[in-house]
Amino acid sequence: PLLPMEDQTEMLPYDQRWEFPRYRLKLGTQLGVGCFGRVVKAKAVGMNKNSNGTARTVAVKMVKSQTNSAALEALVRELKILIHLGSHLNVVNLLGACTKEMHKGELLVIVEYCRFGNLQTYLSSHRGSFVNLVDEFGNIRSQSETEEKENALSLQEMCDRDPTASTFCLDLLPTDPTGRGEIGLESICQYQRDAALPCITTHDLISWSFQIASGMDYLASKKVLHGDLAARNVLLADAGVVKVADFGMAKRLYYDGKYEKTSQGLLPVKWMAIESLTDRVFSSQSDVWSFGVVLWEMFSLGKVPYPGMEIGHLLVKEIQNGYRMERPINAPNFFGETMARCWKADPNERPTFRQLKDAICSQMESCI
Ligand code: ADE
Repeated sequence: PLLPMEDQTEMLPYDQRWEFPRYRLKLGTQLGVGCFGRVVKAKAVGMNKNSNGTARTVAVKMVKSQTNSAALEALVRELKILIHLGSHLNVVNLLGACTKEMHKGELLVIVEYCRFGNLQTYLSSHRGSFVNLVDEFGNIRSQSETEEKENALSLQEMCDRDPTASTFCLDLLPTDPTGRGEIGLESICQYQRDAALPCITTHDLISWSFQIASGMDYLASKKVLHGDLAARNVLLADAGVVKVADFGMAKRLYYDGKYEKTSQGLLPVKWMAIESLTDRVFSSQSDVWSFGVVLWEMFSLGKVPYPGMEIGHLLVKEIQNGYRMERPINAPNFFGETMARCWKADPNERPTFRQLKDAICSQMESCI
């Protein structure tokens, strides 16, 4: 029989092979801060075996206050989970740890650095230059259609969408092949992939949703619960790769405070499955509920879920009574239906991450 997660992690060993010399880690600016921990950007000298002397940019997690033993314990737990987990492309992977000063309350957990930050901030700050490929009926326009001239965006249109982004676009876009001020979506998308231009398309959102499902399927296969899956905890790395971050930590910290605020003042209640809210039950299937909320966040380009609804017993009651959010306007029908399935009251009726991954993959095949 499976032990509760906390007992399991107590038993996980620390492997000295992860130890990284503290003096070779140069801490830099702060990337994020929560109630108990913070993350800073850093340089790790000689982190890659065959590149002695050169430094790798990394992210370092630490506790906010070295006298907070509960926070330190939580970070130890997270480190052990990261070691147990092994590595996956769609998870923020462990690179090393500095544990030698732990008796003084200093524990540094070194993870991959993701250049473009979290998905929630990225989506909301690039909302203005979003390239929507979904029609008013929720259908994804076919590739042949999008290749047609009628769908080519004129530079003027792009300026109208987002003046700040398009100035950037105008300066840096590849030369206009038609000479008429029109650039096909193809070349915009290609350029975006090459240089991370701030234009997101429906295809990116679909790709990200597949990658998050893949990362979460990997977590579930290792019997690791996330407990706080939300767009703010998904990070964007190079080449359109997204990675799930911050697992293992949240569960226990939120346990006694249903309405506790996260680092950004957001309330995790809006991401929590109905059984987590009412009975404090967490499982991979409650992570699936949160994945549904992440889909909603993505296709509404970083909006706060349940817009206009206050947190509290009323929201919980409404959800218990069957209230669910609608498909965001930019979401293909398939994703609207998927959200609804993730929010089934019975956890066993929700799809598994494996099923989600496979279903999204089929969608991707049908729209290219
Ligand atoms: N913010 C929090 N964790 C981060 C990471 N690993 N990379 C970039 N920004 C982050």
